[in-house]
Amino acid sequence: MRSRRSVLAVPGSNPRFLEKAQTLPVDEVFLDLEDSVAPLAKEAARANVVAALREGDWSGKTRVVRVNDLTTRWTYRDVIEIVEGAGAFLDCLMLPKVQDPTEVVWLDTLLTQIEKTMGYEVGRIGIEAQIENARGLVNADAIAGSSERLETLVFGPADFMASINMRTLVVGEQPPGYVEGDAYHYILMRLLMAARMHDLQVIDGPYLQIKDVEGFRRVAQRSAALGFDGKWVLHPAQVDAANEVFSPSQEDYDHAELILEAYEYYTTVEKRGAVMLGDEMIDEASRKMALVVAAKGRAAGLSRTKRFTP
Ligand code: GLV
Ligand code: MG
Repeated sequence: MRSRRSVLAVPGSNPRFLEKAQTLPVDEVFLDLEDSVAPLAKEAARANVVAALREGDWSGKTRVVRVNDLTTRWTYRDVIEIVEGAGAFLDCLMLPKVQDPTEVVWLDTLLTQIEKTMGYEVGRIGIEAQIENARGLVNADAIAGSSERLETLVFGPADFMASINMRTLVVGEQPPGYVEGDAYHYILMRLLMAARMHDLQVIDGPYLQIKDVEGFRRVAQRSAALGFDGKWVLHPAQVDAANEVFSPSQEDYDHAELILEAYEYYTTVEKRGAVMLGDEMIDEASRKMALVVAAKGRAAGLSRTKRFTP
């Protein structure tokens, strides 16, 4: 599974940003042909993106291109030009504003045709589906199960808030007047369930107040706490916060590795299933929880500072 703690959005029409993006320590970069590119710049942006993928140094990053959504006239040419031009330099396509599973099936089929025509390995290019309105959210379960290529669902809070008429203009913040609870809780949980039902990752979208890193951190913490795998970043200032918030703490990582090691010892050497690790009782369910944290810690490059002694 790829690490996606920080997912950098880069407008495909801006060569300076395409250059700068290569230097930032993000897990994923997506070169955008959709909402950060003006309608009159859409066609020219495709060639910029192909050149940036082919010639840029994206090592260590997952390379994604966001095409335009299927209600526009641009989508099919976006896919064909990007994948024919740079398919070998690309990991996934992101399809925005997905409302129903047939849209993902369409993209899967088109990708297969292009891969066969070009002699690429069939099925290597993955899909990220952005859920950005009520219809997409209600259909999220079916969307998440619609293609073997799907790697992640992605929440698009700006479009989503507009689509449901949520009464705020500040993306990710609570609508004024809503004083109980968290207005995003249902949406985030709904996406998490749909994604996990199909073993997909799930990514939180952008926080637009790019000068407010504390605000970013607070909003990122909310989805990270529920189990989201990462969040978009729009500015270098948000990158470190995203990588940190979506990595386990050193303490949690050490604890998780300790549980795995202790559980392995007790179940095999002592043949016991529910055992004590210090003051804590651990069993098979603890092992599963520890596996998740340990995997995220290893992916984040953490190393152990504690060892288990029976
Ligand atoms: C991202 O695409 C969003 O709409 O928030
Ligand atoms: Mg959007």
